[in-house]
Amino acid sequence: MSTATRVGIVGCGNISEVYARKLSLLASVDLVACADLVPGRAKELAEKHAIPQALDPDSLLASPELEVVVNLTIPAAHAEISRAAVAAGKSVFSEKPLALDLADGLALGEAAREAGVRVGCAPDTFLGAGLQTCRKLIDDGAIGEPVAAHGFMLQPGPEMWHPGPQTFYQRGAGPLFDMGPYYLTALVHLLGPVRRVSGSARITHPKREIRSQPLRGQQIDVEVPTHVSAVLDFESGPVATLTTSFDVQASRLRNIEIYGTEATLSVPDPNTFGGPVTLRRRGATSWDELPLSHANAEQSRGIGLADMIQAVQRGRSHRASLELSTHVLDAMESIVRSSDEGAHVTPTTRCERPDALPPGLPDDVFDA
Ligand SMILES: NC(=O)c1ccc[n+]([C@@H]2O[C@H](COP(=O)([O-])OP(=O)(O)OC[C@H]3O[C@@H](n4cnc5c(N)ncnc54)[C@H](O)[C@@H]3O)[C@@H](O)[C@H]2O)c1
Repeated sequence: MSTATRVGIVGCGNISEVYARKLSLLASVDLVACADLVPGRAKELAEKHAIPQALDPDSLLASPELEVVVNLTIPAAHAEISRAAVAAGKSVFSEKPLALDLADGLALGEAAREAGVRVGCAPDTFLGAGLQTCRKLIDDGAIGEPVAAHGFMLQPGPEMWHPGPQTFYQRGAGPLFDMGPYYLTALVHLLGPVRRVSGSARITHPKREIRSQPLRGQQIDVEVPTHVSAVLDFESGPVATLTTSFDVQASRLRNIEIYGTEATLSVPDPNTFGGPVTLRRRGATSWDELPLSHANAEQSRGIGLADMIQAVQRGRSHRASLELSTHVLDAMESIVRSSDEGAHVTPTTRCERPDALPPGLPDDVFDA
């Protein structure tokens, strides 16, 4: 009998395709079912990836056969679906953000602890070759003491390309909640927990016009800030700035830089798994591109779930954890609150840095 963990996907939209492809390749996963509010989407995903059952969401959540639910619904449905899965005794791996607000994230955590199940959350890009190489460089002292960091996610907005961009301007999204998790998770993975934040945010256009097909010409009502700048003080000392925006037409500023006493580290796009990783040492006249020390350099969304499954088997913590995603959610909520209240905000949660991956392991393996 197969020892693979039986997994079902809820939410068969855009990103489900990437997950279904990856999960089908993982020996530790048996992808047995998928479900969506729109039955045709579940059917299409099931047919394309030979998933045995296309169900409605309630039937999937109730299925005694399933051990883990992968929650790929829209942000507004994340907490509800994850809590229903936990209530049915299943572990969950959710897309980001964990929930719309910290209160819902904390309630989910409480429910999971009571039920004795695991909750993992995207992004899992920090398990990729690029960000693990950066982590090793920092831990090995290659940049000296980390002093500061910058993160920039500056875009003109998803209504330019996404077929259904409305949700990007609803609660739980906007540039901070949609893209911020990649940047904040990478920064917490590299530098540790955030001690306090300040933020300034604005809504530049209260209405946005969809430019992509098939909804071209329709108007979107904007509910969330579309340009957000934050200063983050890390418990370990560094001060970071992070700007996320859907209001920038063009920029040369991108990704993350970490400034140390001995060198500057240019971190690759935290929404990807690969490089390049470049370093410029004190006094050097050029940047060195460094070899990647870890595996998983290609598109690997889903490896956070694979790590969670391996963690259960080994009796250890998983890396894309509830604690990490709750702290990232707390930091994002604190940034918006700081902007509203005009004062620094101290997050009420903290988390340890997730354990670094040992170098030299093959793809999809997380323990030496
Ligand atoms: N699209 C991307 O490139 C991308 C990349 C990384 C992460 N994500 C994240 O993945 C999640 C999904 O994004 P997407 O782009 O696939 O969105 P999407 O809108 O294309 O798909 C979401 C799907 O969830 C279904 N759904 C909504 N509420 C549901 C419910 N209560 N029960 C069952 N199904 C429900 C919808 O019908 C839809 O098919 C979001 O959290 C997003 O931030 C998306």
